[in-house]
Amino acid sequence: MLPETFRCYLVDKDAEGRVTGRITEVPTANLPPGDVVVRVDYSSLNYKDALGATGNPGVNKTFPNIPGVDVAGRVVESGVYEFCEGDEVIVTGFDMGTNRWGAWGDYIRVPQDWVVPMPADLSIRESMILGTAGLTAGFLVQALLDHDVTPEKGQVVVTGASGGVGCFSVAILAKLGYEVVAVTGKESAHPLLESLGAAEIARREAVSDSSGKPLLKGRWAGAVDTVGSAPLSTILRAMKHGGCAAICGNAAGFDIPDMTVFPFILRGITLTGIDAAWCPIPLRHQTWEKLAGEWKLDCLDRVAQFVTLEQLPGKIAEILDSKITGRVVVAISDEAKSESLL
Ligand SMILES: NC(=O)c1ccc[n+]([C@@H]2O[C@H](COP(=O)([O-])OP(=O)(O)OC[C@H]3O[C@@H](n4cnc5c(N)ncnc54)[C@H](OP(=O)(O)O)[C@@H]3O)[C@@H](O)[C@H]2O)c1
Repeated sequence: MLPETFRCYLVDKDAEGRVTGRITEVPTANLPPGDVVVRVDYSSLNYKDALGATGNPGVNKTFPNIPGVDVAGRVVESGVYEFCEGDEVIVTGFDMGTNRWGAWGDYIRVPQDWVVPMPADLSIRESMILGTAGLTAGFLVQALLDHDVTPEKGQVVVTGASGGVGCFSVAILAKLGYEVVAVTGKESAHPLLESLGAAEIARREAVSDSSGKPLLKGRWAGAVDTVGSAPLSTILRAMKHGGCAAICGNAAGFDIPDMTVFPFILRGITLTGIDAAWCPIPLRHQTWEKLAGEWKLDCLDRVAQFVTLEQLPGKIAEILDSKITGRVVVAISDEAKSESLL
């Protein structure tokens, strides 16, 4: 039996168009329609959540809204035989936290085909340290594997390396035997990136060519780019013949300046994009199983900091200002808070 109201971080817009978030109680009856109700143990703070929580119109399309694109917890109500009360599950992406109420509250209700059963070798806590960032890193790495970028082909560069997607990409690639060059704007992140297995750490300026040359000296066999704009352009122009760049983000901007067709038609490179929010369920299952199995990382606790809903406003400002290293995990249930010493 669900309570009449539940606690959440609600984002609303006032008459002057100012968007603010506050912790409040909302009626459980107002949960969006769906087959499965999950009691949230953990959520997380992704860059996209921070944009949504501050009213970015490209992310948050409805008001009032509960942000949170990631959730891990236990099923408390199910109208379908695929899920039973008590099942541990993960839900990430789709419309959650953007067009419909998301995971920064005690409960979510979602369609059953958004729900992934927790893999046997992953805890609820571990799954939310990974969250959308870990899942996206998995998709990015898989894209390089699918395009035949093998470790012996040469160095793989990862941009935004201290961020959520970046640090998991570095760690998974290093675990698979790649020589990873981690690009970061944060001096303070160097020790962490080394411990994740980066063979070399480069400053952002190292991938910021402004010569406008259509081709630069070929260096990268593969690339994982989370930032877009000038760094992505520089990397694409410096890919080795047959290389592949897998991209997911735009932390530096959404353009790709100085790009021409030449890296594609003279070096046969591939540019492949990832959309973790709407990727099909079978691919999610496969990737979560890998993250829990052959790609399981022993660094999860090292990259995570745990916060409560009350601590979110400060962390939202920090992630938008590129001040966060690793992952911010939001402990929501009392069990999660005590497990995370909050
Ligand atoms: N397409 C998808 O499915 C998908 C899924 C997840 C995330 N994303 C996107 O991927 C990006 C990364 O997500 P995230 O959750 O990992 O974010 P995050 O934790 O905030 O990491 C972003 C990182 O980008 C770097 N950065 C920030 N501003 C920059 C700038 N102006 N120039 C160059 N680098 C900059 C910083 O790393 P350093 O300080 O180390 O350089 C920062 O830590 C975001 O754009 C996000 O929206 C897309």
